[in-house]
Amino acid sequence: MTCLFEPCVIGGIELRNRFMRSATWDASATDDGQVTDASVRIFEDLARGGVGLIVTGYAFVSEQGKAAAGQYGIAEDRHIEGLRRLVKAAHDGGARIGAEIAHAGNNLFLLKDPRPVGLAPSQIEGFPLAHRAMTVAEIEETIADFAAAARRAREAGFDAVQLHFAHGYLGSQFLSPLTNHRSDDWGGSPENRRRFHVETLRAIRKAVGEEFPVWAKLGLQEGEGGLPLAEALDALKAMAAEGLSAVEVSAGQGTTGVRTERPEDDEALFFRVESAAAKQAVDIPVAVVGGIRNVATAEAIVAAGDADMISLARPLIREPNLIARWQRGDRARAKCIRDNKCLAAAFAEGVFACQEEALLRQQEAAT
Ligand SMILES: Cc1cc2nc3c(=O)[nH]c(=O)nc-3n(C[C@H](O)[C@H](O)[C@H](O)COP(=O)(O)O)c2cc1C
Repeated sequence: MTCLFEPCVIGGIELRNRFMRSATWDASATDDGQVTDASVRIFEDLARGGVGLIVTGYAFVSEQGKAAAGQYGIAEDRHIEGLRRLVKAAHDGGARIGAEIAHAGNNLFLLKDPRPVGLAPSQIEGFPLAHRAMTVAEIEETIADFAAAARRAREAGFDAVQLHFAHGYLGSQFLSPLTNHRSDDWGGSPENRRRFHVETLRAIRKAVGEEFPVWAKLGLQEGEGGLPLAEALDALKAMAAEGLSAVEVSAGQGTTGVRTERPEDDEALFFRVESAAAKQAVDIPVAVVGGIRNVATAEAIVAAGDADMISLARPLIREPNLIARWQRGDRARAKCIRDNKCLAAAFAEGVFACQEEALLRQQEAAT
């Protein structure tokens, strides 16, 4: 077996292997963000399934920052007790666990009506959801909300906190020239567009100290007219200088982190180029997510030095035991076919499950 399955320390966390479950919204929390028995079962299954690090689905740092129905909350101290149940489920199964913390900005597509008016760096003409530009006081409050959320993550016993600065949510919106048109200290130049990230990290370090692992999922790839890679890397360097412990590389604005290329295109990994560039740019560990379905590919990525850690989301919805399966020597490709029906079901019905797998089970039961 390769080094992927060996214990290691990455980004301040002792791990049983180099696989992580990328943050995945599971729609299992109550309307006010409380963990449920269904949530706990998801984490028990994942931990039993062998993955080294499990990152929770994005948890909202404030009521205003909610992005989806059934999201976990980390906005109030009353959320801590429920979150401890997720930590226990992960630890009992031998996994480590990080809390992903997020603010939606104006990306409220996964909420149902009536949606609140979104808060964003700038008002964007033609954007289909109601929103307005944040005041400076609102930006400062949001940074304080992130810091308080990180403090709660530590109190709940998480091994790390991960800032969601990807996928078109508030962090992406600040960083990208597509969505940040401010002319004050929080927009305009690349340095101003990354001020939100730098100040958030500073505030978090004050709240949790220097030792607690603080990771980020960062959008390094954008579409036409979006953030150039060099600027994204400068933002990453600035965050590393403020004490970021590790980064997971994904998409930012104007593109998607949840692409649907078929499994035959296995080698067309979404962000390997950006991950390799991040490895060159910073000394902190780098995880890469997006489209990895093959253990041989995962090994090749790490062997080439293009990432330190392999992150998976949809494959572990279909097969929570995938890592244990690979480790046992069954190296068949992950069964996930990237149809995104898991996402559609979470949105339409609040159900967290692979729809293909559910169909197969039904067919088996009928025969
Ligand atoms: C149902 C679903 C929920 C997701 N929720 C989150 C989330 O809460 N936070 C996040 O950063 N990414 C989220 N993602 C994106 C995944 O973490 C991951 O970046 C993406 O699916 C690509 O990886 P994969 O090809 O291994 O699935 C979600 C994806 C899916 C399918």
